[in-house]
Order: sequence, then structure tokens, then C-alpha cells
Amino acid sequence: MTASQPSGAQMIVPRLSSFYELRSYDTLDSTNEEARRLAEDGAASGTLVWSVMQDEGRGRRGRAWSSPAGNLYASLILRPDCEPYTAAQLSLVAALAIHQAVATALPTPERALVKWPNDILIGGRKVAGILLESRLQTGNKLDWLIIGSGINVVTCPDDQERPATSLHDEDSGADVVKVLEDYASAFEHFYQLWLAEGFSPVRRAWLDKAHGVGEEIEVRLENETFSGVFDGLDEDGALRLQTSDGLRLVTSGDVFLPSSN
Ligand code: BTN
Repeated sequence: MTASQPSGAQMIVPRLSSFYELRSYDTLDSTNEEARRLAEDGAASGTLVWSVMQDEGRGRRGRAWSSPAGNLYASLILRPDCEPYTAAQLSLVAALAIHQAVATALPTPERALVKWPNDILIGGRKVAGILLESRLQTGNKLDWLIIGSGINVVTCPDDQERPATSLHDEDSGADVVKVLEDYASAFEHFYQLWLAEGFSPVRRAWLDKAHGVGEEIEVRLENETFSGVFDGLDEDGALRLQTSDGLRLVTSGDVFLPSSN
């Protein structure tokens, strides 16, 4: 791990608003892990950890996140005054922000879509993922929340079960600094919207970009797999699934669509 100043590959300093306090690294174990260490040490809301590479990048459900140089690895510390259940909506806020950064970088922006709960797809292939981690304080309030974002800018893993892509594979010449700037700017916009007006406008914007609404999908939980028709989101962000047994609200899990397996 190197000191928290731009060096080597990160000589170009991203232009970010005063909402953010940027900490840049050449390499880290995981930006989420460094953000957690900083949050435990009292780092302010808006601290943004960015690394060129990660040795132990992690994805959801204990999966590894391949992290070579050239892609974006960033983790944002937030301290919203809310309960964990509500804070989970910030994963959809982050998905919208990544979606905007990705769409801006593409020659055909409409090919970018969001997939519940926190993937961004281009043409059905995953280009970005989000990992939310949090710690509670007493009274079921959040102490901190970390939003880890991984965006495949120049490369992507070769995964048969979860097909992936990168911006470069999709004919974009985007570079990681520009993608970080666009993501940070869009995140600030959608976060302020969420703080000011709640989840409702975020939900609408997310559904407008959602992959697979009205289609038959499969939901995989730790110990259960079931399917039904993806019927949008409820007012808190849970996935509405119309199954043969009626409406089921899903608050966690992996979603698989016939067209994006
Ligand atoms: C997923 O789709 O499984 C979530 C992937 C999240 C990866 C990012 S990269 C930056 C941050 N640091 C990590 O170790 N993970 C997240």
C-alpha cells in the first residue's frame, strides 16, 4: 500500500467538487477495505478512496473482483442520518450514477442499463458492480456506509456464467480519470436528490433505465432459487416479483435474466 497521494500512474488529478475529499493510491488490498479503515478512524462523509489496482478486490457474496490497472476502483464513505434499510437505497443511487458515467462514455448510450440490485450492463454484459458495506451505531442508525464501485474501463474478466464487458470492448475511448469524474459528479447529483426528495425520484429514474422489467427472471438466494416476472421496485427499493404464488418482495439476491445469463 502506498501513501495517500497521487503518484506514478495517478499523476493526473481528477477534477472533483468540494463534496469529495480524494485519497489516491497506486495499489491497495481493496478500496473498500481502506475506506473502512479510514471510516473507523473518523474520516468525513465524502472521503473517496481511489486506487489504480487492488490485490484483494472483492465483489458481492464473497466473490473476488479482478482489479488490474486501467479500470476504476473507488469507494466512497458516507454518513447519512438514516437506518440501514433506507441506506440500502444508496446502492440504486450509485447504480444510476455509474449508469450515467458509462452511458456518457458510449457511442450508443442507450445500450447501458441497470440491473437489480447493483449491476450496470451494456448489451446484457456486466460492465460495473457495486459493493455496499456499513457499520451500525447504537439505535439502529448507521455509523458509516461505504459504496465501492468497480467499472471495467479497459479490461474485463472472462466469465461464462456472468458475461462481462468493458468500455473499450464497447468502442469507447474513455479513460479512468474521466470515468471517475463523471461518476463522482453524477453521484453527487443523485445523492442530493435522494437527500432532498427521498427515494421516489431515484426509483423512477432507475426504473427508466432498468433491464428486464416485465420479463421472466430467476432470483438466486443463498439457499433458494425461484422465478417470476420482474414487476419493478416497491417504494423502498425491493424487487417486486410476480410468482405463481403471488407477489414476492425480494430485498437481496442475484438476478438472472434469460437474455443476460
Ligand atoms: C459486485 O458486482 O460483485 C460488486 C463489485 C464491487 C467491486 C468494487 S471495486 C472497488 C471496491 N473495492 C472492492 O474491493 N470492491 C469494490
